[in-house]
Amino acid sequence: MKFIAFNVREDEEKYFSQWEKETGNEVLRLPEMLDMTSVEKTKGFDGVLALQTGTYPSEMFAEFKKFGVKVFSIRNVGVDNVDLDAAKENGIVVTNVPAYSPNAIAEFSVTQLMQLLRNTTIFRNKVAKQDFRWAPYVGRELRSLTVGVVGTGRIGRAAINIYRGFGAKVIAYDLYPNPELKEQGIYVDSYDELFSQADVITLHMPATPNDHHLVNSEILNKMKDGSYIINTARGALVDTKALISALKSGKLAGAALDTYENESDIFNHDLSGKKIDDPIFKELLALDNVLVTPHIAFYTETAVENMVLISLNSAKSVCEDGTASTIVK
Ligand code: COI
Repeated sequence: MKFIAFNVREDEEKYFSQWEKETGNEVLRLPEMLDMTSVEKTKGFDGVLALQTGTYPSEMFAEFKKFGVKVFSIRNVGVDNVDLDAAKENGIVVTNVPAYSPNAIAEFSVTQLMQLLRNTTIFRNKVAKQDFRWAPYVGRELRSLTVGVVGTGRIGRAAINIYRGFGAKVIAYDLYPNPELKEQGIYVDSYDELFSQADVITLHMPATPNDHHLVNSEILNKMKDGSYIINTARGALVDTKALISALKSGKLAGAALDTYENESDIFNHDLSGKKIDDPIFKELLALDNVLVTPHIAFYTETAVENMVLISLNSAKSVCEDGTASTIVK
């Protein structure tokens, strides 16, 4: 069997070669993105591996079919950028990695909130200027806060466990409640209730067209003054313009954004010394109560290893007998 993988980074290399040795299959690794200009390279391969950072439109699946590709394996969880209907129409099986490390993302969200609560960016900037005074940047403790978790899948549940460890009160909302958490009485009945009762909202849900700009000016207005938003999920969930207004007015005390609605040309690219043609993003970067990170919540050794090995095993299994536990329905 022959596989081709796009967007391959140096840190993934050792897991690809380990897998090749163990299974005797070949994987051609390319650093470039898979798009309509590079899709021709997939000709003659049984399976294609890629990452969420690109978009995979319907024309691409028609090309895969023409080229004899059987399986398209995403090395991450989200498939919001994959035209699943087109994949089905063209007989291409899509697999993902539903749980490479929920803790990686949950831990990072909590890390970012802690930094906001203790004003670390402000103090770092002050120390750089040799201003070592404390006031007025007094911090807040997690045990005095209510954390509102949106989405109680694997990542949301890992986050809940960590927040509880710090003594925070946790409430949650999910269209499909988890039975165990339901029994614990953690759920509120609506987004409005969650956003109005919480001091912190942390997003752990996929992006669907129904949830586009879930965090908008209307719901932000319902939040307590001085609250926080943490987004390590998907940029499309947050109306960035509305978020900036809420941060500037003091409605929000801070935000941590590991995803951004127009991130694909920015995150994981070296733009040093280059002009960024996105005024909204530049406005975000200029705010000292916002932590912007380039979609790195997932980025741990455990996660990277699982992303590579699980996606390769899925692709191989689909090619062998058409099955895999990670097929996206
Ligand atoms: C995912 O797994 O869906 C992610 O967001 C991480 C990824 C883009 C590398």
